[in-house]
Amino acid sequence: MLRYITGLQPSGALHIGNYFGAVRPAVELQDRGEAFYFIANYHALTSTQHGPTLREYTHNLALDLLACGLDPAKACFFRQSDIPAVPELAWILSTITPMGLLERAHSYKDKIARGLPASHGLFAYPVLMAADILLYRADVVPVGKDQKQHLEITRDLAIKFNETFGDVLQLPEPYIRDEVATVPGLDGQKMSKSYGNTLEVFGTEKALRKKVMSIVTDSTPVEAPKEPAGSTIFQLYQLFAPADEVNLMERQFREGGVGYGEFKKRLFETFWETFRPLRERRARLQADPGYVESVLADGAARARIVAEETMRKVRAAVGLADP
Ligand code: AMP
Ligand code: TRP
Repeated sequence: MLRYITGLQPSGALHIGNYFGAVRPAVELQDRGEAFYFIANYHALTSTQHGPTLREYTHNLALDLLACGLDPAKACFFRQSDIPAVPELAWILSTITPMGLLERAHSYKDKIARGLPASHGLFAYPVLMAADILLYRADVVPVGKDQKQHLEITRDLAIKFNETFGDVLQLPEPYIRDEVATVPGLDGQKMSKSYGNTLEVFGTEKALRKKVMSIVTDSTPVEAPKEPAGSTIFQLYQLFAPADEVNLMERQFREGGVGYGEFKKRLFETFWETFRPLRERRARLQADPGYVESVLADGAARARIVAEETMRKVRAAVGLADP
């Protein structure tokens, strides 16, 4: 049975780009192998530096993922910072990490270019991620395209460690989800928190309706035929509407006679109904105050056992403990 590991950063409200791009694929994988899913709060600390906010984002992401179908009976679900071996292995790996390897990392260069201060944590981010992956001896790491280079760095570090200290760490295979289409945002660009064009999975009805009604369109009049292919409304509708409804909207686009406002209303209604069961599940979980913490504590206890097994070998190999 294959072991999967992936981390999600708690960086604010979950949007439907995250849902279709990362969360739903992860939920599907929990039935196909041994899944380890964690909330990457150490990583988030490189960008969210306000205690109450990070705590809130972490708790909310745990609730969101459970509401979206992450099943703690199938997947081991935990918080990164509950595993003390993570920073321990990250330090050990950092002693064999060539500076040049990190200097070439795009994600570091991109973040600096976007104005984040150049901290050591941001620079060492890929080493921390390598520790996350190597600790649990994962076979496969499902990630978005933007994480491809981090996986290459992880493999480079595992190879270097094994050459230096003996064959201890298992090389993971990346599983890049590039078959998942990019979800467009309200303005037609990629949906992303940094563009302010998101539709939240668990937003309020009023705010979400307003957002859907604000989707940018061209100025084709009601009666004129419209092209569905490039339309954000149609692309979003295709994500959740049943096939016959999608066909109907497509035909009405091409025939003309229905305005964008009407299509947006239909999009909103379908979106709202699609996520209703998830919303209801989230409300039920939230009503049980100790639930999330007990799930995360249980997941951490299981993850620590696996991590400790790796660490015993690592400490012995590098000379921090007796073999
Ligand atoms: P982020 O917090 O933006 O790094 O997103 C976390 C993960 O969600 C990414 O690695 C992607 O797999 C996925 N994701 C984010 N935005 C989108 C989008 N607009 N379309 C598809 N997937 C997305
Ligand atoms: N860096 C990843 C992201 O931003 C999150 C992450 C942290 C991760 N550690 C990981 C993903 C380990 C996969 C495996 O999306």
